[in-house]
Amino acid sequence: MNPHVRRPQPLPADHPGTPAPRLLTLTIDGQVAQVREGTSLLKVLQSLGIDTPTLCWAENLTPVNVCRICVVELEGARTLVPSCSRAAEDGMVVHSDSPRVQAARRTVLELLASSVDTSTAPQMLAFMARYAADGQRFGPAQAPLAAGERDRALAGHHHLGDGQSAATVAQPVKIDNSLYVRDYAKCILCYKCVESCGIDAQASFAIAVAGRGFDARISTEHAVPLPESACVYCGTCVDACPTGALMFKSEHDLRQAGQWRPADQATTRTICPFCGVGCTLELTSQDNKIVRVTSPKDSPVSAGALCVKGRFGTVFVHGVAGEEGDEPSSTVP
Ligand code: SF4
Ligand code: SF4
Ligand code: FES
Repeated sequence: MNPHVRRPQPLPADHPGTPAPRLLTLTIDGQVAQVREGTSLLKVLQSLGIDTPTLCWAENLTPVNVCRICVVELEGARTLVPSCSRAAEDGMVVHSDSPRVQAARRTVLELLASSVDTSTAPQMLAFMARYAADGQRFGPAQAPLAAGERDRALAGHHHLGDGQSAATVAQPVKIDNSLYVRDYAKCILCYKCVESCGIDAQASFAIAVAGRGFDARISTEHAVPLPESACVYCGTCVDACPTGALMFKSEHDLRQAGQWRPADQATTRTICPFCGVGCTLELTSQDNKIVRVTSPKDSPVSAGALCVKGRFGTVFVHGVAGEEGDEPSSTVP
């Protein structure tokens, strides 16, 4: 078991001889639910089969409450509350899909879609269809910024635009190594990569949020290229990214060439061949080449996290560059 991954602490009842946890009773969309103290509203919704959208929440990450798409209406509360991080309380009456909730979710999606390229974010696109969100609501997109311009943005100097078009985070994709690319034109600032790289999994702290307001962005220290940063290429952030902003270079290159064909891909679950830990790998292959490696979050060994070898090293099966046969699709930088 990965010791760095935060897991829910066992409840007292899991230990023999300790008192049973307090049970809470609350009402969700007219259904009465009984849950253990400490359960989040999102968990209660999920246990009732209520499909609640999330963007910044993940089972294996600490909630950071930044996307606000999971909000629900709580009777007696002035504002909508984020279900992913709000703990259930005795007597709560919750409305998970009221017109107010739907309007809030639609607005969040429209604000994101007006400024971010959602073309490789199927989950977001599904949410937009579900809430009839209009990505053009705030007008046509402004011209992309030049390379590095967002990295140099200073607080208080944000260009607000002309009032007719929508400011965006469009910018050239960052390709500075042979393993994965960073296309921050697709970044919704969900923090999942930061959490994964930091205390929740990898503990490398190679990336963080820089800037403020609309200029907030994910950055290495002093915006240096990845090979000059603290990144160890574990790819945990790539796995966590819900929008394709972080992407295997092999996938990026195939997409650029119009050759990314999910219908022709196979997924194979296997064990990493590199050491005795035995992390679980899921290899995505196309045309007999490994094009992406992920790790299932429910694996008791790796819990979604891998090292550089498991994440990017299995392409050794393609053969060595210069030998007869295939060239590796990626190499360690
Ligand atoms: S690849 Fe690993 S070390 Fe590098 S930024 Fe992503 S999570 Fe951090
Ligand atoms: S790069 Fe991906 S994971 Fe990181 S904040 Fe942006 S959308 Fe989220
Ligand atoms: S999923 Fe709850 S705030 Fe993002």
